[in-house]
Amino acid sequence: MKDNYNRRQFISFLGKAGIGTVVMPQFLISCGNTTTPTSSFSSISKERLQVLKNLTLEGLVPSDKDDLLLANGLDYHTIVKWGDTISDIDTFGFNNDFTCFIPFEDNNPKDGLLWVNHEYVNPLFVSDFDTRKHENPQKHRTIAQVDKEMYNVGGSIVRIREENGIWKVVKNDPHNRRITAKTPMKLNWDTPIKGATTVIGTHSNCSGGVTPWKTFLTCEENYDDCFGETTYDENNKATHTPSWLGWEHFYNYPPEHYGWVVEVNPKDGTAQKHIALGRFAHECCTVYELEDKRVVAYSGDDSNNEHLYKFISSKPGSLKEGTLYVADTINGKWLALDWERQPVLKDKFKDQTEVLIRAREASKLLGATPLNRPEDIEIDPITGNIFVSLTNNKSKNDFHGAILKIEETNGAFDGFTFKASNYKAGGAANGFSCPDNLAFDVSGNLWITSDMSGSAMNKEDKPYMAFKNNSLFVIPRYGKDAGKVIRVASAPQDAELTGPWFSPDGKTLFLSVQHPGEQTKDLKNPTSQWPFDADNIPKSAVVAITGDLIEKMNQLHKIEV
Ligand code: FEO
Ligand code: CA
Ligand code: CA
Repeated sequence: MKDNYNRRQFISFLGKAGIGTVVMPQFLISCGNTTTPTSSFSSISKERLQVLKNLTLEGLVPSDKDDLLLANGLDYHTIVKWGDTISDIDTFGFNNDFTCFIPFEDNNPKDGLLWVNHEYVNPLFVSDFDTRKHENPQKHRTIAQVDKEMYNVGGSIVRIREENGIWKVVKNDPHNRRITAKTPMKLNWDTPIKGATTVIGTHSNCSGGVTPWKTFLTCEENYDDCFGETTYDENNKATHTPSWLGWEHFYNYPPEHYGWVVEVNPKDGTAQKHIALGRFAHECCTVYELEDKRVVAYSGDDSNNEHLYKFISSKPGSLKEGTLYVADTINGKWLALDWERQPVLKDKFKDQTEVLIRAREASKLLGATPLNRPEDIEIDPITGNIFVSLTNNKSKNDFHGAILKIEETNGAFDGFTFKASNYKAGGAANGFSCPDNLAFDVSGNLWITSDMSGSAMNKEDKPYMAFKNNSLFVIPRYGKDAGKVIRVASAPQDAELTGPWFSPDGKTLFLSVQHPGEQTKDLKNPTSQWPFDADNIPKSAVVAITGDLIEKMNQLHKIEV
């Protein structure tokens, strides 16, 4: 059954609230944001729309200051940072990325569970091992050092509550826990992978998503950094390519156990890996629920010349039963990664499980389009168009990336054809470079974070000099600045802003400040000191951004006219 995107359904669902009040859906199905419009969008008065149209945004100029700078009308406070105690036994992990907040109760958007990804470690900070010295990680460090690294990746669940405008962690709440590279979890698949149906741990957790049934999705991106990768030559002979971190020298876990989308139950922390969604460097997983409760899950493979995927379930609420497709963006076709139906896959792989494990190779055999690092994906709550960040592809001289727009034919998310076009190019003309995470707010304004690499930012000989530090931008939907890219936050030195996620009432933007001071060579002389703790050590942290600007852009409070 085709599911046509129907804006009127959104409006009728939300149109019950009167002007001046906002009734928000309490659980939203998109990756990294809130995507459903509010009553204020659907029933906005002419006067209020006029105020919105007259709103002037005062953007920031590029800055290389070592601080989290915000545009006028925005404020922030830190919720939790690396090393903070979250329970009697657990501390908050390193390099926080994706965030996602689920309230406990529908009528209280200010108390709930925050999921945070911990993507990777910088051993210099975490385990006192300096990878820049190119020492042999097997010979020059201990298993205790590796255990520290494995503890600091994965994710955190923390209960947070807002009181008097300030979000705080509820210390020792029974929900507070860590999921790490040591946490056992099941494979949601009938065939064992490398002999296992339960595997050890998750890592490389970059962005993610949320399911319609209120669980977290965390995506394993650069998994080959930890246990390496199995690579195949032209005769299909497998060899092991070593990892950067060298964990495989201490723990013999197969690379095939990583590179999946992982679902985490917020209430008890149990996790499972969804094999049907394929194995590659998953950036995110953006789930749309069809009218008949089947789901469509979009995911990008963040690597040069890799692909865009979508899974369509054949049963309601399943991330196992269904078909994985890969995009041919030239011809606008979704190609089925289905061993039974594709002779070219039958010739190469022994079964569907192998197709899913080696999804990159299978996609190329089908003629999938190589893309310039597809990262985050969001669905426009007003048009139903799908936006995909293409960060860059230096191998093709694409230094600044772009945002790709996908329009499914007739708005059918479970259809097999679409139109792809360029929505917004990175570069000097638009004032941003290397788009990464995306989030729509409750009025349909698009928020974008940038991810210029720490080694290339603010370097005279690199093409990123003019953009200075990584930043957060917004593209307003209405008014004088509609369609412009406006810088609203600037990150500390070497950092990247990641994981933007709006609270259910639309008033708070949760945001990760990831890897400040990443280029540090000597901990006594770090390249950043944010968040300016007494020990001067830079620390990734999750912040809450609030303020008049968000409220006005989203018509969340009465504006005098
Ligand atoms: Fe971890 Fe693709 O960013
Ligand atoms: Ca990312
Ligand atoms: Ca990135």
